[in-house]
Amino acid sequence: MLGNFSYCNPTKLYFGDNALDYLNTELPKYGSNVVLVYGGGSIRKNGIYDDVCRILKENGKNVAEISGVMPNPTLQKLYEGMEIARGHRADFILAVGGGSVCDYSKALSVSIHCKEDPWEKYYVRFEEPECEVVPVGCVLTMAGTGSEMNAGAVITNRETKQKFGHVFADENIMPRFAILNPKYTMTLPRYQMAAGTYDIFNHICEQYFSGEDDNTSDYISEGLMRSVIHSGRIANENPQDYEARSNIMWAATWALNTLVSRGKETDWMVHMLGQAAGGYTNATHGMTLASVSLPYYRYIMPYGLAKFRRFAVNVWDVDPAGKTDVQIAEEGLQAMGDWMRELGLVMSLSELGATEDMLEGIADGVLVMTGGYKVLDREEIIRILKESL
Ligand code: NZQ
Ligand code: ZN
Repeated sequence: MLGNFSYCNPTKLYFGDNALDYLNTELPKYGSNVVLVYGGGSIRKNGIYDDVCRILKENGKNVAEISGVMPNPTLQKLYEGMEIARGHRADFILAVGGGSVCDYSKALSVSIHCKEDPWEKYYVRFEEPECEVVPVGCVLTMAGTGSEMNAGAVITNRETKQKFGHVFADENIMPRFAILNPKYTMTLPRYQMAAGTYDIFNHICEQYFSGEDDNTSDYISEGLMRSVIHSGRIANENPQDYEARSNIMWAATWALNTLVSRGKETDWMVHMLGQAAGGYTNATHGMTLASVSLPYYRYIMPYGLAKFRRFAVNVWDVDPAGKTDVQIAEEGLQAMGDWMRELGLVMSLSELGATEDMLEGIADGVLVMTGGYKVLDREEIIRILKESL
């Protein structure tokens, strides 16, 4: 590999069906004023809320709650949470939920003591925090985003229809710990399980489809992708298969905890297209990615042919004998599409509520990244979005 880099990931993980016990190990490290953040109620239904509250009580914590954090958390909700956390003099934020709750908690952590408007500072100017950052811990209930072990926080501004992610450089913004119990993911609706599985897979693709050097990160990525494909199939057949669900959960964390991007430029254009569509439709994150993926990859494939050929052979077991590189690469994308349909993913933006008249506006919200095989211009973005409809 040819890139220069540093690597540090300070998040401590506890994995397995007894992982919540370790909340007792972590909580004493932080002050007594805890803000408990969660979503729309799934943790109340499946009992995780009661278990977490019991442990908080046993540890003598003074708890305030921010509930109702929605999928694709909004700026408005962030403002509300800032009031609650400031009023409570928060020492620690405990996120219990999926990527939305974890992202929201990280955005909150850098906003509580921020003297400026957090949207302007973190999502328009993409600056780093200069204020005190309140520490965050996560109890994860959905596998997908990798938010439990990274410094990303995606927030949607409903007024401007913009959905932007900020991946903070400051390691203090990564969760201090994350509790990963695969059993917690078993109450997920099938739609969310599938969306999360594709989110994981695409995170790996975003980092894999870049660069031409021989890079260890790409070999790790291929192994992770094979695991997600394999376990995704098993979980799709039987969502209660613990072994498959635990592999999916672990792969999700490694797919986006910065490891496989080391020494690479990385692409991220599927996410930029998907997020821009999400800003308009409020659709489920993984499904927005699924909708734009095949049109995007088919379009950029000629520019990164060698990697697409390698993807076909090493990830999808395409037999290269007697075929041209283009045929092999196309077969790989075909196999990926077949797997996506098998999982029941949404394969078009129109099924997510996007219409042709939105495309110009969606294109306005696409941040153009430059690390992949083709830097897209506006016309190309519109063309890919049209093909994704
Ligand atoms: O709100 P509740 O009632 O908890 O229901 C949630 C929500 O409706 C439900 N759910 C979660 N765990 C459950 C469950 N239902 C039953 N049983 C459980 N155990 O699932 C729904 C979706 O949850 P959400 O947290 O929104 O999903 P996900 O984990 O996919 O997170 C999506 C958000 O993360 C951002 C996305 O853009 C989106 O805003 N991302 C964050 C990233 C990061 N930090 O690095 C990277 C990703 O690419 C992504 O952009
Ligand atoms: Zn994602």
